[in-house]
Amino acid sequence: SEARRYKIAVIPGDGIGPETIGASLEILQALQETLGSFQIEYTHLDWSSDRYFAQGKYLPDDWMTVLKPHDAIFFGAVGHPKVPDHISLWELLLPIRQRFQQYANLRPTRIMRGVDSPLKNISPESLDWMLVRENTEGEYAGQGGRTHIGQPWEVGTELAIFTRQGIERIFRFAYQIAESRSKKHLTFVTKSNAQRSGMVLWDEVAWQIAAEFPHVKTEKMLVDAMTVRMVHKPESLDTIVATNLHADILSDLAAAIAGSIGIAPASSIDPTRQYPSTFESVHGSAPDIAGRGIANPIATMWAGVEMLRWLGEEVAADAWMKAIEDVCAEGVLTPDLGGKEDTRGVTDAIRAKVIKNA
Ligand code: NAI
Ligand code: MG
Repeated sequence: SEARRYKIAVIPGDGIGPETIGASLEILQALQETLGSFQIEYTHLDWSSDRYFAQGKYLPDDWMTVLKPHDAIFFGAVGHPKVPDHISLWELLLPIRQRFQQYANLRPTRIMRGVDSPLKNISPESLDWMLVRENTEGEYAGQGGRTHIGQPWEVGTELAIFTRQGIERIFRFAYQIAESRSKKHLTFVTKSNAQRSGMVLWDEVAWQIAAEFPHVKTEKMLVDAMTVRMVHKPESLDTIVATNLHADILSDLAAAIAGSIGIAPASSIDPTRQYPSTFESVHGSAPDIAGRGIANPIATMWAGVEMLRWLGEEVAADAWMKAIEDVCAEGVLTPDLGGKEDTRGVTDAIRAKVIKNA
């Protein structure tokens, strides 16, 4: 039968981005050749800080037209020590998330066998979370400004935006995920004790949508107490929904608990599929280790697994994930996980398993 065909836009970006994306493309190539059931056509895009230095812009003016025809976007990382982080983020990643209405950012967290968690007495079975982050509004809506610039009385505002529609859509999507998981348990994170408008609306809408999903158990947690619970009772959590800012912070904590930010993936999803979704790591460009060949490629690879699932390529996704899990279990690890292997070594080990398993 004919191989299924996909178009994927690849944005390696900065620092270790090109290293972990390069490693992941090797695995995709191996999967494609071994399985023969799908074929990917790539568009390689040089949207990065180097482009910004040369041309003054991260994105070309027609970026939406360029990206729109793709089935997915595979993204490395953006960020350069010589560019303020709010510029690189707001000129590359955030416009894509917002204009493409990628309103759900999914961050699965698990402890892989063979990986040490900094928590005592924790087993891989006791932690399996799906963090769902609102990705288009909230505290990162981009509303605000600065007045009296340079004066002693200078003012800066950062307005958090919560819309009923925005809250409804993220909760409906999160409940569908919670319903598909065995525990059927959803915890939503809030700060409605201190923030009495936006966060109170968030809670009200959450309970309204909860009523549509009677088979899912719903709990509310204040964000500060949530950090404690994640550390002390990780087994008591399953699907977690939080605002843009809260989930940004909680997901780094989740990644650290799972052993390293070097394994944590993120998918920025437009559940309506009107626009392409982006598959990326939680981590950034890691300038401290860039160019040394020791970046952990697993975060980006796991994002690649999630990309294949989103495209419907479950067999390839399962083969890739199993290869990642097996290689971790065998202790083939980069230094961030306490291992001695480099990016090349881990990639070769995963590639060999993928070819054997697929
Ligand atoms: P980072 O995630 O790049 O690095 C934090 C620490 O984790 C560093 O010590 C780094 O070496 C280590 N690390 C990260 N990924 C790793 C991997 N795959 N393997 C091994 N070690 C890894 O965060 P940081 O240092 O705060 O930010 C660096 C730059 O990245 C900044 O410009 C920041 O704005 C940007 N950034 C970009 C993101 C994105 O593109 N999605 C997300 C977070 C930060
Ligand atoms: Mg973050």
